[in-house]
Parts: sequence; C-alpha cells; structure tokens
Amino acid sequence: MIHINKNYLKLQDSYLFSTIAKKVADYTTKNPDKKVIKLGIGDVTLPLANACVEAMKKAADEMGQKETFRGYGPEQGYDFLREKIVENDYKKRGVNIEKDEIFISDGAKCDTGNIGDIFGVENIIAITDPVYPVYLDTNVMAGRTGEYNKQNNKFDEVVYMPVTAENNFIPELPKEKVDMIYLCFPNNPTGTVLTKAELKKWVDYAKREKAIILYDSAYEAFIQEENVPHTIFEVEGAKEVAIEFRSFSKTAGFTGTRCGYVVIPKELKVEEVVNGQKIEVSINNLWNRRQCTKFNGVSYITQKGAEAVYTEEGQKQIKENINYYMENAKIISEGLKEAGYEIFGGKNAPYIWLKVPKQYTSWEFFDYLLENANVVGTPGAGFGPSGEGYFRLTAFGTRENTKEAIERIKNLK
Ligand code: MLT
Repeated sequence: MIHINKNYLKLQDSYLFSTIAKKVADYTTKNPDKKVIKLGIGDVTLPLANACVEAMKKAADEMGQKETFRGYGPEQGYDFLREKIVENDYKKRGVNIEKDEIFISDGAKCDTGNIGDIFGVENIIAITDPVYPVYLDTNVMAGRTGEYNKQNNKFDEVVYMPVTAENNFIPELPKEKVDMIYLCFPNNPTGTVLTKAELKKWVDYAKREKAIILYDSAYEAFIQEENVPHTIFEVEGAKEVAIEFRSFSKTAGFTGTRCGYVVIPKELKVEEVVNGQKIEVSINNLWNRRQCTKFNGVSYITQKGAEAVYTEEGQKQIKENINYYMENAKIISEGLKEAGYEIFGGKNAPYIWLKVPKQYTSWEFFDYLLENANVVGTPGAGFGPSGEGYFRLTAFGTRENTKEAIERIKNLK
C-alpha cells in the first residue's frame, strides 16, 4: 500500500501567498468594479533590463543554429556566469570566493527549500519569527519539526527567535542547542538589517556550537547604508559556517525568468560519525552531488540574461530599477508616517513593516484594507506568531499604484 509523506499533513492551510491570492481573487470576483492595488507578494513590476533581454535574444538565436546550439549545460552553472559573480559580487567587496563554490539555480526559494536535502532530519532548526515561510514549511515537510501547536501557533521542536520592535528586530542568540540557523538580511518580511558586528556574533556562535548558518541575501542589492554587510562572507570566519543564497529575482527583475545561486565555501565541513568512524564531510561536495542528481541546470538563455546584469549597461539599468523601488519605499514610509502609522524597514529593503492599529489583528487589518482601500498587503501573522500586530507592504508596485495606495490608506483615517 502506498503511503504519503505524513509530514505534509502537519502543514497549516496553504502557502501564505496562495492564501492571499485566493482571498483577493474571491474579493475581485464579488466586486468586479473595484480597482485592487496589490502590494502583497514581493513581485517586481518593472520589465527586465534591456541588456538582459538583448542577451537572451542573442542566446535564443544561438540555440537555433547548428554551430552554437547547446544541450545539457553544467549542473552547477556555466563558467561565464560563475566568473562574473566571483568578480562582481565578491571580489569587488574584498571577498575571495572561487567559481566552484558557486551553484547557479532557478532561484533562492528553491535553493533555501532544497538545501535541507543534505542535512539530517535530527537537526534542530532556528528561524526568526516572523520569517519567510519557505524556511519553516520545507523543514516541516522534511520531518525536521514536531507537530503544529495551536496553543502558541508554533511548530514543536523548532527554535523561534522573535524579531520585533522590542528588540529592534535583532534576533537574540538561542539559549538552546540549534544546528541549522536561517537568517535573512536585509530581512524579509521586516525590511530591517543587521550590522557587520551583529552578524559576527552569529558567525562566532555557529563556530562555537558547530552549527550552520543558512544566509538568505536575496535583498542585498537594496542596501543603501554603510556598515551593512552585503554578504555574510564579509565577516571573518563565515566561510567555515555559512551557506549564502542569492537571487536575480529582486535584483534584476527575474521573478518570472528564474535565476539565483548558492555559495558553499570549500572550508565548510561537517564532522560526522559513519560506521563508528569520525569523518569530515565537505558540504560543497554534498550539494554538488545533490544537484548533479536532481537538477539539470538553468537554461543557457537565462544564464546569458543573468550574465548581462554584470555589464556596464546592465548595472546601470538594474540600479535605475532598484532606485525606482526604493523611491516607492520612501513614498510608502513617509505617507504612512503622515497617516500616523509606526513603520519599520524600507531603508535598505523593499519591504515596509508597519504596526497595525490596535483594534485589529493583522488578518483583520488585511480584510479592512482590502475592503475599504482596495489595497492588498501581507498580514504579519502569516510570517509567524511574532508577526501578529504587524503588516507588510512591498515597494515593488508601479509608482502610480504605490502613490494611489498610500493616498487611499491616508484617506481612511
Ligand atoms: C515575498 O513576497 O515574500 C517574496 O515574493 C517571496 C519570494 O521571493 O518567494
């Protein structure tokens, strides 16, 4: 008799952004005359940079010619892209990463979800609360958590690290023993950042406790302030304890095109006892083995598009787009402040995290905004119990919609 993976039955409802999409679809079906503005899921609205489009067109032409056609590419990604990443994302920041420490992928959501494949189910995970739901849900699926506890809205056997206004959104080092620590900075959903000194505490902790840091740096390109690390590998010793996830989704508008990468330094080794013998396992080798078996690489056309991000023209174009979104973030932040809201984030990240008025829970505020302002955001509670009382708006909308949404919210008061 066939059995299912029963861990899936522990999951709550549907995936957060699917729940929201369904609620919005129900509302628009019932109210077809309303112009709903979506500032919920962090999906970009500006088209791809022209440099990327041109590179992909050229690559598509190459695929149509006998002489330049390519079949399966390397599972780890083409060298032309890995070399650009080494040069631009690391060397320019004084960080030495080798190209075989980089694995090109179809995005950070898949990578942060799949990475669990190479780690034991007995590991204890630590996540910030609120958190990007993929880290938690994929660990539930893998069986690395206990049951969902309706009393505290948490999964048993998971270490939740609250990040709220009370601790300036800086997670405290766990008191209990943890093995896999998920950190995302600039943070999704709160839009806040850690300084290099704060991040160093985590690296030191992971070294001491023989833990691993899974560092999601998908929003790195939005950092505006000094002293905010762009990569965890700026921190001394991080190569021995951290894996970094990067994405072209938000940086270069690839949410629909799909490309990202993982950095696994060769220094990252884990001691394991196998058949009574202590061995040292290279995490880079393990991930390589996993990728070669389960993944056939990102398309040549897409990787050519990603490569173009690093051209002079590409850099100029993506920076214009990032500035556009950060101007939206400013419009949202200032407009909400004027309307009397307490807000966080939005300075080094495309997310604004606001305190909902006291009379509402975050889901009630979601309904209130949808029905009264026809604006969609994301309820903080959807990201974890400590997100209750907060709400997220994204800066990825069009300028016109962003301005209109904020005017509508202001007029509610
Ligand atoms: C978000 O809204 O949190 C992001 O769009 C999620 C993602 O990148 O998958």
